[in-house]
Amino acid sequence: MNTSIEVNGLTKYYGQLLAVDRVSFEVETGEIFGFLGPNGAGKTTTLRMLTNLTRPSEGSALILGMDTVRDSLRIKSVVGIVPEASNVFNELTTVSNLTFTGALYGMRRGQRAGRAAELTGLFDLEAHRNRKAAELSLGLKRRLTIAMSLMHRPSVVFLDEPTSGLDVESSRLIRDIVRDLHRNGVTVFITTHNMEEANQLCHRIAVIDHGNLIAVDTPERLKQAATEAQAVEVAFDRNLDPGEEEALSRLPCVSELRALGDKYRLIASDPPCVLEAIYPFMNERGLKPVSLNTFGPSLEDVFVKLTGKGKEQPANE
Ligand SMILES: Nc1ncnc2c1ncn2[C@@H]1O[C@H](COP(=O)(O)OP(=O)(O)OP(=O)(O)O)[C@@H](O)[C@H]1O
Ligand SMILES: [Mg+2]
Repeated sequence: MNTSIEVNGLTKYYGQLLAVDRVSFEVETGEIFGFLGPNGAGKTTTLRMLTNLTRPSEGSALILGMDTVRDSLRIKSVVGIVPEASNVFNELTTVSNLTFTGALYGMRRGQRAGRAAELTGLFDLEAHRNRKAAELSLGLKRRLTIAMSLMHRPSVVFLDEPTSGLDVESSRLIRDIVRDLHRNGVTVFITTHNMEEANQLCHRIAVIDHGNLIAVDTPERLKQAATEAQAVEVAFDRNLDPGEEEALSRLPCVSELRALGDKYRLIASDPPCVLEAIYPFMNERGLKPVSLNTFGPSLEDVFVKLTGKGKEQPANE
């Protein structure tokens, strides 16, 4: 089977509020599929519908060919879920959380201990194996939550903002584990509002805003949609006078000049063309570059272009 998740017109109303609006997409087997959008876009609601934690108002979805509502029990044994809020049992130790989760999934006792030991190693939780979950830091708890979702070796894993609020080291560990899952053939559906994370991790990204799916593509192809966001950034060894600034803005291929602190950003769809022109410009005026960089479009530029919105919102949940 090449498609692990098939979504058809999935819709969710909360009273009058249309949280998810006729969303359709497919996730291929073994890919890391990112669901990217700002706060309130409908990411968690979509994930909760796909994992049968909330009923769709309209539409349907298949996981490995099984209907998320009708076949929910069968789906449970092949799917791992990492919810937005931690679902660890605070009174249990790290290891007991893992073995207890294994029991809930119907794993045999012998299997549970071995798998728990494997996961405490993989998630770097060995030093904390006998601590109560209540004592664990946010990052450790998140790792445990993810480890719990993998106890029964699911073939499709849903993660809701797994790195949100975590430090660099914990985030990196989690991203490495997601890549490991991919190497082992697991299909990963991950929500995030962190564009750089989506860019680094995902094979394809769906962009959702106000409940509407506005694009589904690879990060690189999405970025091509915003080629006008390419730029050359240059800082000179002295300030420019207004005439020189004017001349800079009129260089070939430059569509816009922005002064940013001690630098100028020259927006251009063809940065090499600007580079060719900028050296004669400097030579004629006795200017030297302190720094000179070219920038491709970022996923953030794409997001702004697609949604007409500003920067991503802060990471606090
Ligand atoms: N249980 C609920 N009852 C009523 N409205 C809800 C409920 N859950 C979510 N909503 C609303 O549905 C919309 C989508 O919310 P959702 O949690 O899916 O967004 P999100 O993309 O996951 O956002 P975030 O990045 O903040 O986690 C929001 O307007 C939210 O207020
Ligand atoms: Mg959410």
